[in-house]
Amino acid sequence: MQLIDKQARYGWVSIALHWLIALMTLALFFSGLWMVDLGYYDAWYNRAPWWHKSVGVVLLALVLIRWLWKLVSPTPLAIDTIEQWQQKAAHLAHFLMNMLIVVICIAGYLIVTAKGQALPVFDWLTIPAISLNIANLENLAGELHYLLAYLLMFIVCLHLAAALIHHFVAKDDTLKRILGLEKSPLTKE
Ligand code: HEM
Ligand code: HEM
Repeated sequence: MQLIDKQARYGWVSIALHWLIALMTLALFFSGLWMVDLGYYDAWYNRAPWWHKSVGVVLLALVLIRWLWKLVSPTPLAIDTIEQWQQKAAHLAHFLMNMLIVVICIAGYLIVTAKGQALPVFDWLTIPAISLNIANLENLAGELHYLLAYLLMFIVCLHLAAALIHHFVAKDDTLKRILGLEKSPLTKE
């Protein structure tokens, strides 16, 4: 498999970034819901948020790297049997998922900074708190973080359903392309 994306297929950098981003997004969503219910005496009470925040910053960095990588290696063309409206819907969903991840991470930082705490990124670095003087910031940012995380998961479900429909119903190479498995002859190489 090649490094760079070609007109008709993804290269391994894009594929690895896609699946890392997908895995980390799902892990952050479920770990977020789980950790806010932990009791003070639970062994994970401090450890879980530390992991959640650190993985969140790495996820944000990966989304930014994915965008930069698109400048080096443009995304493959849409499969030409797919209708225009579906191609547009897919682009919109991809754009929204990326934007939501960025905004959710910024809201996450605001929750932390509103408490006057720095944001840990494993033991590698800490992002210092800033003082913003916005009334009720911790709650507002918390609500935003929570609601946008659910909106993101809703779009991820549509995205997953579309991928499965393309694979099992339309039987095209959409899913195989992002798994790096497509074997059929490609016209736009
Ligand atoms: C959980 C979070 C996920 C996010 C945030 C996400 C995001 C994205 C984005 C932004 C793209 C556009 C290509 C790129 O920039 O890499 C993409 C493509 C794709 N994703 Fe996901 N994805 C997720 C999960 C999944 C899952 C679970 C599946 C299927 C099992 C899947 C299947 C695909 C397919 C088939 C494409 C290629 C679409 C095309 O070629 O037009 N994704 N995804
Ligand atoms: C830099 C990135 C991130 C930071 C700093 C961060 C920080 C936080 C913090 C501090 C909380 C606890 C909120 C509270 O105590 O009320 C939290 C909860 C949560 N986070 Fe994140 N987060 C980040 C990324 C993400 C991402 C990308 C997602 C979703 C995919 C996510 C989903 C959640 C969820 C679902 C909760 C539980 C919210 C609730 O039930 O109130 N987080 N996050």
